[in-house]
Amino acid sequence: MSAKIIVLLACVSACVAHLCMLSPPQRSPLTGINKPGSRSCFMLGAPCGKQAPNINKLYLSAGENFTVVFQKNLNHFYAANPGYFSVSIGSESDEKNNRTLTELYRTADTSDPSLTIMTANIMVPRPVVEQPFVIQTQYVSNNPTEPPAFYQCADVVIML
Ligand SMILES: *[C@@H]1O[C@H](CO)[C@@H](O)[C@H](O)[C@H]1NC(C)=O
Ligand SMILES: *[C@@H]1O[C@H](CO)[C@@H](O)[C@H](O)[C@H]1NC(C)=O
Repeated sequence: MSAKIIVLLACVSACVAHLCMLSPPQRSPLTGINKPGSRSCFMLGAPCGKQAPNINKLYLSAGENFTVVFQKNLNHFYAANPGYFSVSIGSESDEKNNRTLTELYRTADTSDPSLTIMTANIMVPRPVVEQPFVIQTQYVSNNPTEPPAFYQCADVVIML
């Protein structure tokens, strides 16, 4: 079997349930997101899919409401035990040390098709000091035939 075929076979089981984060923008470039299965939306590994922080960060104000926009880029709804999407926040230091982030929003996965845009209204928390934060979106598939979770992170600074 050629290496190419092995890679293709691996993709049949693993390259599913992609998650893109549109706003604030995810760390990896937002390319090919109008088609299911965008490579830039296939990030594995908690907490941020192994993507390095962006130098450019979006500035948010503590206490304001913000709409996080993300996309179920590739559907793999598992009806027997539906997964979920969540939005969490933590400081850059929480991310670096892999400490548990604070979950701000969670919604169950549904049979909505690939490319469905989803929104989460969150209230930006008030940190003790003005500092960089990470907003993480997660697609937990609960699907035994695919990776357990997909991650995206966006870099923001919360102003007091
Ligand atoms: C971070 O912690 C989670 C479990 O909470 C683990 O699955 C993941 O592999 C950890 N990431 C790193 C980079 O250690
Ligand atoms: C702001 O967001 C919080 C948390 O999601 C919500 O409870 C509240 O109603 C929102 N306020 C406005 C003005 O939208």
